[in-house]
Amino acid sequence: MTDGAGRFITLEGGEGVGKSSNMDFIASWLEQRGISVLRTREPGGTRFAESVRELLLNRDSAPITDRAELLLIFAARDSHLEEVVRPALARGEWVLCDRFTDATYAYQGAGRGLGEQPVAWLESWVQGSLRPDLTLLLDAPVEVGFSRADRRGDRDRFESEQRAFFERIRQAYLARARQEPARFRVVDADRPLDSVQSSLSDTLEDWLKTGSPSSHG
Ligand SMILES: Nc1ncnc2c1ncn2[C@@H]1O[C@H](COP(=O)(O)OP(=O)(O)OP(=O)(O)O)[C@@H](O)[C@H]1O
Ligand SMILES: [Mg+2]
Repeated sequence: MTDGAGRFITLEGGEGVGKSSNMDFIASWLEQRGISVLRTREPGGTRFAESVRELLLNRDSAPITDRAELLLIFAARDSHLEEVVRPALARGEWVLCDRFTDATYAYQGAGRGLGEQPVAWLESWVQGSLRPDLTLLLDAPVEVGFSRADRRGDRDRFESEQRAFFERIRQAYLARARQEPARFRVVDADRPLDSVQSSLSDTLEDWLKTGSPSSHG
């Protein structure tokens, strides 16, 4: 991009749909077009936020209330945005993040049942006007992600939840994509990796052509 402003791209979707597997593909695709990309993830991305991630994902962690879980996620997000994301965008870099606030709406808002409102309060307090410029939602039936994640190994604290929890998450993600069609692109992830990646290329190509508008540049 020639306007000197970075873009903020987030990768979303339920368990095992292939987010992490596609991070390098997307970053390389952009880098081949001369775009400098910072790869990061949530919860995480700073030392503090990675400690919060460990607390949240480790099945041996002490029990956490749903509200405390939500607050921890935004505490980690604040650290990540201040130390990593905002400085990178200000330098004109593009930031590619494995999960962001749509995951909080899906997991804590819908999955845990806290509702949208507390997530929206924290979002506006912690993020101000910062929102992703593009959100790629990898969508697949819950069972597909489950069997992929199972093949990968040990279930984390979230992956030990019941099926209905994940169905709420999937539906919440799809509802958000319908509400914000300008920001979201939904990619069918229930296909072999090379088909998913060819859709991701087409989607990115199309988004770059239509101007890939920056909401914070
Ligand atoms: N399209 C695909 N077809 C088959 N297997 C896949 C596909 N995409 C990813 N996988 C495999 O599924 C497993 C889960 O993928 P990955 O870790 O990328 O998912 P994720 O969305 O990051 O999961 P999580 O939500 O747990 O972070 C990995 O073993 C990966 O190799
Ligand atoms: Mg992952």
